[in-house]
Amino acid sequence: MRLRIPELPLGATPAEILKAGIESSHGPVSLACSFSLEDVAIIDIAHKAGLQLGVFAIDTGRLNEETYEVADALTERYRLKIDWYFPCHENVEKLERAKGLFSFRESTENRVECCSIRKVEPLSRAIKYLSGWVTGMRREQSVTRSDLQAIEIDELNGGILKINPLIDWSEEELIAYSEANHLPKNRLFSQGYRSIGCAPCTRAVKPGEDARAGRWWWENPENKECGLHRR
Ligand code: ADX
Ligand code: SF4
Repeated sequence: MRLRIPELPLGATPAEILKAGIESSHGPVSLACSFSLEDVAIIDIAHKAGLQLGVFAIDTGRLNEETYEVADALTERYRLKIDWYFPCHENVEKLERAKGLFSFRESTENRVECCSIRKVEPLSRAIKYLSGWVTGMRREQSVTRSDLQAIEIDELNGGILKINPLIDWSEEELIAYSEANHLPKNRLFSQGYRSIGCAPCTRAVKPGEDARAGRWWWENPENKECGLHRR
């Protein structure tokens, strides 16, 4: 069945976007969870609205300890079952034996190769049997995300729905939601981190810097996508 993008009311709330996306998927829907403020807020919103939403996470093998702590806190708070996905071990072994542990710093090509092995390939398995997947992406996050839609057809992943409930939220709105609801939060945020991915490819940002300036800081902003969100 060819899925259709539902019509949303003007100024639809994250809960309305999530509900409409889940209903229009006509099958299982899961959140891709990186344990960011965004993803945690989505889990909370889905929980409060009583929506059926699975949660999967890709453990790239290079995540920060603090990120696992958030996963643990969520499991406890929401009795959450997280479907963990790992990269294919043969691919990682081959990469590390051939190019070492930090090949991604040497060129964009190498960085994309590492992201493709550690993130994109597991993603393809995680969403294979889904009718829709949810992300915490927001338009404000970067130049590569400014034209996102709240609900899209993910043509590169078999035509399933891709649902971005927080698309219009600013960072301030997100932080306010997180604080008002006492949501679990990565301890690295208090050390100046504002967007957190793999440990060796993420660092704190200085006041006034862009939130994603600490991600792959050695690359151009136009290249800063890992391939999870190819369109
Ligand atoms: S990234 O693609 O450049 O790493 P970012 O960290 O901004 O993206 O996250 C955007 C969204 O991608 C997250 O809100 C989440 O939905 C998804 N995502 C990112 N990393 C992971 C991961 N390791 N596991 C599952 N989903 C992820
Ligand atoms: Fe590899 Fe860095 Fe991409 Fe993680 S973010 S998969 S360590 S290149």
